[in-house]
Amino acid sequence: MFAPLYSSIPARAQASGRVRLELHNLRDYASPPHRQTDDTPFGGGPGMVLKPEPLAAAINAIKAQEAGMLPRVIYMSPQGQPLTQRLAEQLSRLPRLLLVCGHYEGIDERIIKKYIDMEISIGDYVLSNGELGAMVLSDAVIRLIDGVIAQDSAAQDSFSTGLLDHPHYTKPALFEGMAVPEVLLSGNHRRIEAWRRQQALASTERKRPDLLASRSASLADSHKEQKDKAHDD
Ligand SMILES: C[S@@+](CC[C@H](N)C(=O)[O-])C[C@H]1O[C@@H](n2cnc3c(N)ncnc32)[C@H](O)[C@@H]1O
Repeated sequence: MFAPLYSSIPARAQASGRVRLELHNLRDYASPPHRQTDDTPFGGGPGMVLKPEPLAAAINAIKAQEAGMLPRVIYMSPQGQPLTQRLAEQLSRLPRLLLVCGHYEGIDERIIKKYIDMEISIGDYVLSNGELGAMVLSDAVIRLIDGVIAQDSAAQDSFSTGLLDHPHYTKPALFEGMAVPEVLLSGNHRRIEAWRRQQALASTERKRPDLLASRSASLADSHKEQKDKAHDD
């Protein structure tokens, strides 16, 4: 199930030793002979709930694996704090994360009360399981760890600057009658940088105006900047 974390950037991050991923099967922490990890909900109703004992045993055992480096224990949950680039950046600076994945109706509430440091949601929709969310969170965090990808590449990505990324073009310069913007072929780095910033602002304004509301930058700034730069040139 976790195959996406063993290819591409996350795989390279592990190969270089910058990240270590461990997967734990809840069943390994459940009591024999049946190793039952779920049960019916008290009070009735549909679905099953992950039992508290295997979860507590797993969290305690995993925490103890590295004395002196307690992990931030995170429950992937639609009820959690929304995952944002800012939150991913904060998590990328922590030495150790322990992601708890729910199934069915979720996990016993007493685990959340006693063992979970924070709940994180990957969006306002309900997934079938926490593994999908854990993969999304892991990928978002791993690419921000120092040395995993070029720092300037991560810094330009959407949200890192509070804006969406600028458009990207590659060869050929003419594709199905559409030409690459002339400025990108000019070799003038100041003009290219100004164009990219203006495009990022325009894109954000068009696609995600809410992002601009929480940010001091505006199209007016960019126009002024462009004019100033043109004046300097
Ligand atoms: C079917 S969901 C349970 C939903 C739960 N009954 C509720 O409404 O809050 C099963 C599991 O998927 C995971 N999950 C579902 N939606 C998620 C989301 N938006 N973000 C992160 N994890 C999610 C959680 O781990 C959850 O325990």
